[in-house]
Amino acid sequence: MSDPVFRSDLLAGKVALVTGGGSGLGRAMALRFAALGARVAVLGRDAAKVEAVAGEIAAAGGRGAAVTADVRDAAAVEAALDAAEAALGPIDILVNNAAGNFLSPSEDLSPNAFAAVVGIVLQGTFHCTQAVGKRLIARGAPGAVLSIATTYAEGGTAYALPSACAKAGVVVLTRSLAVEWAKYGIRLNAIAPGPFPTEGAWARLVLSPEMEKVARDHVPLRRFGDPQELAALAAYLVSDAASYVTGTLVPIDGGESHAGFGFNAFAHLPADTLRAMGFGRASRKGGGLNAPSTGDVTQ
Ligand code: COA
Repeated sequence: MSDPVFRSDLLAGKVALVTGGGSGLGRAMALRFAALGARVAVLGRDAAKVEAVAGEIAAAGGRGAAVTADVRDAAAVEAALDAAEAALGPIDILVNNAAGNFLSPSEDLSPNAFAAVVGIVLQGTFHCTQAVGKRLIARGAPGAVLSIATTYAEGGTAYALPSACAKAGVVVLTRSLAVEWAKYGIRLNAIAPGPFPTEGAWARLVLSPEMEKVARDHVPLRRFGDPQELAALAAYLVSDAASYVTGTLVPIDGGESHAGFGFNAFAHLPADTLRAMGFGRASRKGGGLNAPSTGDVTQ
């Protein structure tokens, strides 16, 4: 099937690695890049999930590979890159999509809760970006790095403090390296998605039908995003069509960032009300709208 936006060989000859590619937006980008001709390594912690996406790529006639790593572990990232390059050839394109997030009153956060999210989002992005960057520099090849930030990366947000801090760091990493690595022909950009109803995000960030309604009503276009809309923007930014675009943060949010952002709409509610809604540890075992209503969330 022809692509609704791009020439079908937009990414032909390129090798892309997508972190957190086993589900949600990462899966959508991996499949779209493969459909546009890239060979795609799908990286994640869960082997079954990344293998399933690599299988989908192969079933559609593309070339994919599944590699496993926790992006918090720099040595595991290097090993996964070795495996990806052995299977598909040298990496030209990196998408930093792996993330961790949950809603919690910030006074309830443990040091480890903060560290877990910052470790995945900020340190993980650094590990992957530096590892791919070193390889590109060593072989004298141009490259593109795209990081998935968020609408609240610049303004901050109530209740997702670790994520807000980490994503702000990702934006600054993007801008810093866009300058530093321009001489190597490496471009770095970031996308700031508003609400996209993927299973992972909804289970952690949309804890009731009321929250979903507030979130939707907050978007000037009055709807949530379609992962294919984000995948198209991502494909453009990593392609040679965007050869003069570097160091940017591109919102894709239905106008949300111009109408306030993040979870600030809930800032006035008492913390106990929020905890009763599932903010904090109560949502650990997977609450949210996608959770099975078995009543087994007891903490
Ligand atoms: N509220 C408050 N604290 C929470 C929490 C919540 N909802 N969920 C986890 N934590 C805390 C844990 O209690 C733990 O701290 P502790 O050791 O002091 O008790 C810490 O965070 C780490 O949790 P753990 O489950 O051990 O870590 P992990 O590395 O397995 O998981 C997360 C990391 C917490 C980010 C997990 O949600 C995850 O793996 N997410 C990946 C997918 C994702 O979030 N995608 C983003 C979609 S928008």
